[in-house]
Amino acid sequence: MKERWFPALRQAVTEIGLGTWQLGGTEWGDVAEADALDTLAAAADAGIRFIDTADIYGLGRSESLIARFLKGRSDRDRFVVATKLGRYPEPGWPDNFTRQTVRRHTEDSLRRLGVDALDLTQTHSLPLEVMRDTPIFDALRELRQEDKIRAFGASVESIEEARFCLGVEGLASLQIIFNIFRQRPIDEIFDQAKAQGVAIIVRLPLASGLLAGKFTRQTRFAPTDHRHFNRDGEKFNVGETFAGLPFETGLELVERMRPWFPEGVSMAQAALRWCLDFTAVTTVIPGARRPEQARSNAAASDLPPLSGELHSRLGRFYQRDVEQHIRGKY
Ligand SMILES: NC(=O)c1ccc[n+]([C@@H]2O[C@H](COP(=O)([O-])OP(=O)(O)OC[C@H]3O[C@@H](n4cnc5c(N)ncnc54)[C@H](OP(=O)(O)O)[C@@H]3O)[C@@H](O)[C@H]2O)c1
Repeated sequence: MKERWFPALRQAVTEIGLGTWQLGGTEWGDVAEADALDTLAAAADAGIRFIDTADIYGLGRSESLIARFLKGRSDRDRFVVATKLGRYPEPGWPDNFTRQTVRRHTEDSLRRLGVDALDLTQTHSLPLEVMRDTPIFDALRELRQEDKIRAFGASVESIEEARFCLGVEGLASLQIIFNIFRQRPIDEIFDQAKAQGVAIIVRLPLASGLLAGKFTRQTRFAPTDHRHFNRDGEKFNVGETFAGLPFETGLELVERMRPWFPEGVSMAQAALRWCLDFTAVTTVIPGARRPEQARSNAAASDLPPLSGELHSRLGRFYQRDVEQHIRGKY
């Protein structure tokens, strides 16, 4: 497992991380505690040391399971845990963005994670107006000053929000949706982020599993899985589900690409490798519900880069055949 430098933390982090929205157990169908802990263990055994979570995932369940897993590990200090705040239902909007609530939600995450300081906390897909017009970033700077957080970043949904956040004083990282189906960040934010030393954390690298190439028209998701209940953006930003593509369109696009990938590598691994081939990317955080997924994803770090020819082909394919289908904020 290779590592990349995370400037604000003044340390390297593993270039493949683990996304743990799944471990909340509320928006990806049921995930039993035993499966969640086994998935964390498989990720750690495969060398993963960067974990992304949020206070709202399972209303604290994801953070608590991570803490339970890490407790007592002799190498606890080598793990970097990034959490998020701003979307917890209590007290809710707009009270979540006051100094007092940002502090309270941070203290709740500290308690659940069982640490004195959060490695990284991120604003959680908040609209531009909230980030611009509320004291949320002032509150985070104060908490950093008090050593309750080591660094803060922003998880964003659009290029416009990413650009705004790159102007926020002290921003350590940007978490963005980036994958073969969502290529806009390459030209629009990577150079600036790299020049400013802002880490790029890549979410949805598999477009909610579409880019693993395993779904068919017959695939059915549990009613409690967002790929069922948010397929067309019924509950939250459609971009967070299949990267904003209509499911059937995504299936057709995957079939067209399938023959282009190198042999001996799974499609999921090739999709992760594609993200890693951009040097502005600091870490890629595929979500996993099962141990074998975490293991297979970790292995993408040691694969050789995809060929320049394949990158060009995927770039042309995106522009000509994919971009027009993307819905929602982008
Ligand atoms: N607003 C935000 O800040 C925000 C929003 C979304 C996500 N995130 C973070 O980003 C992480 C990643 O995003 P995501 O989980 O939504 O999307 P993703 O990583 O693109 O997709 C994850 C899904 O892909 C499938 N998968 C993973 N590894 C696989 C493998 N090796 N082979 C086959 N299938 C595989 C699994 O689907 P099955 O479940 O079908 O097995 C898994 O649940 C999340 O866990 C979360 O930490 C943050």
